[in-house]
Amino acid sequence: MKITVVGTGYVGLVTGTCFAESGNEVICIDVNKEKVAQMKKGHIPIYEPGLETLFHRNIKADRLKFSTDLQKGVQHGEIIFLALPTPEDEDGSADLSYVMDVAGKVGEIINADSSANYKIIVNKSTVPVGTAEIVTELISKKTNKKFDVVSNPEFLREGFAVDDFMKPERVVIGTDSPEAQAKMRRLYEPFVRSGNPILMMDQRSSEITKYASNSFLAMKITYMNEIANFAEKVGADVDKIRIGMGTDSRIGKRFLFPGIGYGGSCFPKDVKALYKTGLEHQYEFKTLKSVIEVNDRQRKIMIPKILTYFNRDLKGKKIAIWGLAFKPETDDIREAPALYMIDELLVEGADIHVFDPEAMDNVKQKYGKRISFGENMYEILEDAEALIISTEWNIFRTPDFDKIKKLLKNKLIFDGRNVYKAAEMNDNGFTYFSIGRKPANIPRKLWKAF
Ligand SMILES: NC(=O)c1ccc[n+]([C@@H]2O[C@H](COP(=O)([O-])OP(=O)(O)OC[C@H]3O[C@@H](n4cnc5c(N)ncnc54)[C@H](O)[C@@H]3O)[C@@H](O)[C@H]2O)c1
Repeated sequence: MKITVVGTGYVGLVTGTCFAESGNEVICIDVNKEKVAQMKKGHIPIYEPGLETLFHRNIKADRLKFSTDLQKGVQHGEIIFLALPTPEDEDGSADLSYVMDVAGKVGEIINADSSANYKIIVNKSTVPVGTAEIVTELISKKTNKKFDVVSNPEFLREGFAVDDFMKPERVVIGTDSPEAQAKMRRLYEPFVRSGNPILMMDQRSSEITKYASNSFLAMKITYMNEIANFAEKVGADVDKIRIGMGTDSRIGKRFLFPGIGYGGSCFPKDVKALYKTGLEHQYEFKTLKSVIEVNDRQRKIMIPKILTYFNRDLKGKKIAIWGLAFKPETDDIREAPALYMIDELLVEGADIHVFDPEAMDNVKQKYGKRISFGENMYEILEDAEALIISTEWNIFRTPDFDKIKKLLKNKLIFDGRNVYKAAEMNDNGFTYFSIGRKPANIPRKLWKAF
């Protein structure tokens, strides 16, 4: 099939590449000229495990092309995917301007193209309920030619995006048009050969399914973060509680790991957007309101502990941070909890030194020379007063603790992701703070102070 993907970010590039991998002829369109030039030269602009091999293979096979020319893209594709940003607007709602702008242009191009046949325009972006209808109306104003608008939300996880796209647990397709349903089914069938479902539904239900899923996961994490905060207060161990809860199959083991809050390009904005859409329809999601509030607090939960430890004086103190990306296996730093901590620590005058395996270039663009970047994870520890862990990359899991002890000025770790076992840290002689567990090597009478 001839496929066009407009927007070549984390979702668009993975979508385009994976469709090419299943034999389709794909053109990926992006407004970012530099990005397109890079991709044309065979350079991949994002870090996503497994993507590079497929990217090169399909470029070589001439099935995957890149362009800045929307007209060329629209003329090429029988199915046109919009994988455009839908960032958070000032009032918390989803900013639909990218989607509307491109949808309008797509309508004009279809109208001007005398050879244009039936087209399917697919909202792959996460968009509020009713958007497919608005896009349909917009394009209808531009052309009388035959088209359908389909909602097809994407559920891939950054860091596992290729696997998730190639073997999705489900594909959600929102359209009542039998012609669009048949074409979309044909496109996705190679990806669900093991029997996972392609779920056909109306546009509105499909649009809400995406927000309902992300908000539920954000809520599950947030609930666990609150249990962790409470466990810490009463001297319980959240690891034990987590396992006790997770073995109940109704609850499940996943998304029960407490930490310094959720981040990334999706959960924060999607929870807010669903809350806002609810209000627009005179419905207040009280659960989501709490999720937003608790997560805002959780992202900075380590800061009072750090300040208490240093008697509120961080001026000129060297603090090392391991992990910047919002989660492991990605270079994405959007809404990363690490950045919220860095901002707070900078206000306190700390001298911040950071290391992340993939996300440092992105963080350099944000902070420039205001913080220092290490070549490796150990270099930044030299004479640091404390180490903070904010992303649970695998390389941080079994470090050389003797080396850490030698390099750090204080044997002090604030672990925002519970990467280590508290008992081991105790035996290793570290003063160790984590989430929802007793601090190690802090006298019991002082626990409450933190
Ligand atoms: N990142 C994820 O994990 C994920 C997962 C599921 C769904 N989503 C949703 O998918 C959508 C895209 O997310 P993303 O993370 O891929 O975004 P992104 O910011 O990584 O990529 C968006 C791309 O669109 C391009 N673009 C902007 N305006 C354009 C225009 N007018 N024409 C052509 N290209 C244009 C940008 O240059 C950029 O390359 C969002 O709605 C997001 O909520 C994201």
